[in-house]
Amino acid sequence: MTLSRRHFLTSSAAGTAVMGLGLNLPSAFAETSGMPDWHLGYTSAPASGFEPSAMRLVYGKVPAGLKGTLYRNGPAQFRYGADDYASHWFDGDGMVQRIAIADGRAVHSGRFVQTVKHRIEQAEQKFSAPGFGTAGLMSFPVSGPDDVNAANTSVIVIDGQLYALWEAGSAIEMDAATLATKGPKAWSADLAGMPFLAHPKREPDGTVWNLAISGRQVGVYQIGAGGGLKSFGMLDIGKAAYIHDWAMTERHLIIMVQPWLNESLRPPVVEGFEWHPEEGFKFLIVDKDDFSKRRWAQGPARAFYHTGAAWEEADGTIRLDAALYKEPVLGVGGGADEIRGIWNGPDAGFISNLTQIVISPSGDARLIETGLDGDFPQVDPRRHGLPRRLTALVTGQAVSQPGKTAVSVHDWSSGKTSTFDFGESRMVEEFLFVPKPGGVREEESWLIGPVLNLKTGTTDICVFDVARISDGPVCIWRGERAWPLGFHGTWS
Ligand SMILES: [Fe+2]
Repeated sequence: MTLSRRHFLTSSAAGTAVMGLGLNLPSAFAETSGMPDWHLGYTSAPASGFEPSAMRLVYGKVPAGLKGTLYRNGPAQFRYGADDYASHWFDGDGMVQRIAIADGRAVHSGRFVQTVKHRIEQAEQKFSAPGFGTAGLMSFPVSGPDDVNAANTSVIVIDGQLYALWEAGSAIEMDAATLATKGPKAWSADLAGMPFLAHPKREPDGTVWNLAISGRQVGVYQIGAGGGLKSFGMLDIGKAAYIHDWAMTERHLIIMVQPWLNESLRPPVVEGFEWHPEEGFKFLIVDKDDFSKRRWAQGPARAFYHTGAAWEEADGTIRLDAALYKEPVLGVGGGADEIRGIWNGPDAGFISNLTQIVISPSGDARLIETGLDGDFPQVDPRRHGLPRRLTALVTGQAVSQPGKTAVSVHDWSSGKTSTFDFGESRMVEEFLFVPKPGGVREEESWLIGPVLNLKTGTTDICVFDVARISDGPVCIWRGERAWPLGFHGTWS
C-alpha cells in the first residue's frame, strides 16, 4: 500500500494531533486501513472539512494569465463506524472542494454542504436518509425533497453566488469564499423546494437554463446572468425517465428521454427503474421562445449520463455530443463494491462511446460513434450552444483499479483525438475548459482538473494546454492530502 499509516498520520494536522494526544484515529484513516490504494478516492473526508492549505507546484510552469477558482462537488461520506457503508455512490453527502488560483499559487479548501441529511446523519453517525440507491430508515423525517438532498453532484456560480447542486432537490447556496452553507435557493416564492438539476447550461452571454425533473413533468428555468429568474415553464415528456443531463442550442432545448423508466419513484429510486430498449431514445426539441413549438425525434436505444453540448446548423440540423452506454450499468450498480474496497475489474457493459447525435430538421436521430470510451464531456464555454469542433473528456479505462487514467480532446472536424494517459497510478477526474485571456479559438484554452495520484497519496491539480494535450500537463500542483473523487465542477 502506497500510503503508509505513518505517512497518513504525519501528513495532516488532524493526524499529528491524534499522535500527540493519543485520541481515536480520524475516521478517514480508519477507512483507509487495509483498503487498496485507490480506495483513497472513496474514503470519507473529515467532518470538519479541509482548512485552506497551499498546494505545492511540483511540475512545470504556471501559465501567465491563469487566474480563477475551480470548484468541485462530489460524495465525501461513505462510511460510518466499522460496517455502515453508503449503499450507492450517488447518495454520499456532497463536499465542495475549492482550488483558488492566483499569482501562480493554488490554495485548496473543502467543506461538506450542511444539508438536513448531512446534519442528521452526522449527529447519529449512521446512514438513515432514503435516497437514489438507499432505502433509508422509517425514522428519518421527510417532509420534502430537500430533507434528503445530498447536494453532491455539481456546482455553479451565477453572478458570484456559489450553488451546490443535486438533481432531485433545490440548489444549495454557499459562500463562494468560505464554503459556508447558506441554505436552499428559492428562485421565486412559488418555486421553493422545486428540484434544480445538476447540469444547468450557460449561454455565452451568461443566461443560465436548467431543468426541474419530477416524474414525467419537466420544469424549465431561465435565469439571467445577474441571478434573477426570467421565466419558468413546464413540459410533459410522457414518461418518467432518468434525466441526469440534457442539451441546448442557441434556439432550442433538447430533453433527452432515455428508455430507463420509473413510474413509482419510491426509494431506493434506482430499484424502480427498468430498461426498455424497445422504447428507443427520444428527443423532445423545444423552442426556447415558445414552448408550444416542439417536436419529437427518435434514435436507437442508449443510456447516458452526460452530454457535451449541442449546436444547430443553418438548415436546422441539430448536432450534440454525449457519452452513450448500451445500458445504465453505473446507475444500477452504484459503486457499492468500490465503496467497500472491492474492485471486480472492468465491466464490458460499462463502456461508453463518445457519440455525436445528429437530428435532421424534420426527422429522426442517427448516431456517429467515435469508438472513444470515456465520459465527462466538456466544451469551450465560449461556444456552448454554438458550432464548435472540440470535446474534452476523461478516457483510458484502468484495469487494476476503478476509474479512468487519461484526458482526451476529440476534434469533430478532423476526427482525430489527442490523448495524454497518466497510467494506472492515477485516477483522472473531470477536466474543464478555461479560455485563455484574449483567446478566441477553442484551442486557445487550458484544461484544468484533479487527478488522484496513488503514488503520492495526494490529489494533484493538473493544467493542460488544449493545443498540446499529448505533451502532458503544463503544470501540476500537489495537495497535502487526497480528497474523495468528485463528480463535476465549475470554473469561475
Ligand atoms: Fe453528472
